[in-house]
Amino acid sequence: MKALILSGGKGTRLRPLTYTGAKQMVPVANKPILWYGIEAIVAAGITDIGIIISPETGEEVKTKTGNGDRFGAKITYILQDKPLGLAHAVIVAQPFLRNSPFVMYLGDNLIENDLRPFTEQFKARSLDALTLLGAIPNPSEFGVAKLDENGRLLQLVEKPKIPPSNLALVGIYLFSNTIYQAIANIQPSTRGELEITDAIQFLIDQSKRVEACQINGWWLDTGKKDDLLEANRIILDTRLEVAIESEVSANTQIIGRVQIGPRSQIINCTIRGPVIIGSDCQLENCFIGPYSSVADQVRLIEADLEHSVILQGAKVLGVQQRIVDSVIGQRAQLKVALQHPKALRFLVGDDSQLELV
Ligand code: G1P
Repeated sequence: MKALILSGGKGTRLRPLTYTGAKQMVPVANKPILWYGIEAIVAAGITDIGIIISPETGEEVKTKTGNGDRFGAKITYILQDKPLGLAHAVIVAQPFLRNSPFVMYLGDNLIENDLRPFTEQFKARSLDALTLLGAIPNPSEFGVAKLDENGRLLQLVEKPKIPPSNLALVGIYLFSNTIYQAIANIQPSTRGELEITDAIQFLIDQSKRVEACQINGWWLDTGKKDDLLEANRIILDTRLEVAIESEVSANTQIIGRVQIGPRSQIINCTIRGPVIIGSDCQLENCFIGPYSSVADQVRLIEADLEHSVILQGAKVLGVQQRIVDSVIGQRAQLKVALQHPKALRFLVGDDSQLELV
């Protein structure tokens, strides 16, 4: 079995972070979202992985992710020239996939479950397609499944205004080579894309062997700020390895599960886990509260934060108010010069959001 990870797209819902990079490379607990997917696929025993990239962000994905050695996999990059849909990406990847069955994995999705039970179900039952479903309150933003009373898949609809159920299509699918024939038979949707949902519907209509499996763990589609913070929270809660690789000053207090990378300076801080701090950071007189991820080369002086993600090279200097539920982009600077500032001075990039609450 092979795997195809989709890592193209424009990431419009994560702007401004995605003006300078791929949405799949935005870190969750200091690791690109995409890498969690690669690790899950390798853990399921699949090491021949194709990654779909776009002309805009492909170089970044390739340079940072590499040839797969670090994951124990072989990665082949496949360029999708235009964002013409998930099913179009499968066609573009056909020379890589050949006739092999494959897992298709959307690079901004994260799930708690292991993939192996799904690959086993797919093989044991000789399926043409296996879809994963997650029960959620707002399925209208996703593909939605309609099942019969025995749990058999009857219909899939892409982003319906009135959803037929609360079961959304998770961005992880398993396919046999019959999917190519299905894709050849569908037309672009109203958003101008060849939808994988329509291709699976074609398989259902042709009475091919299509099954759906409801996942019981968490599922996150990290395409938006709040989802990103939620993913960060869950990963810090469930997967953070405690390790302190830097010197911390005697007057620093570390409470709970905390990871600190090498060559960081931590002086007179209180760090209350779960928290991850990268390498080459400088933190002085700070309170770093639960569910915070601080990437490499970040400088925090007299800062107080909680449930926030600070990306590489950002600086927060002298901000006394607690920073909460925030994502601060790479190299961004927040600075308060006086104790009671009389004015606010900004250079804020396109699509940024500032809330003084
Ligand atoms: C895509 C699929 C949708 C699925 C979702 C999962 O949506 O078309 O059926 O539920 O991924 O993340 P998109 O992210 O392209 O809007």
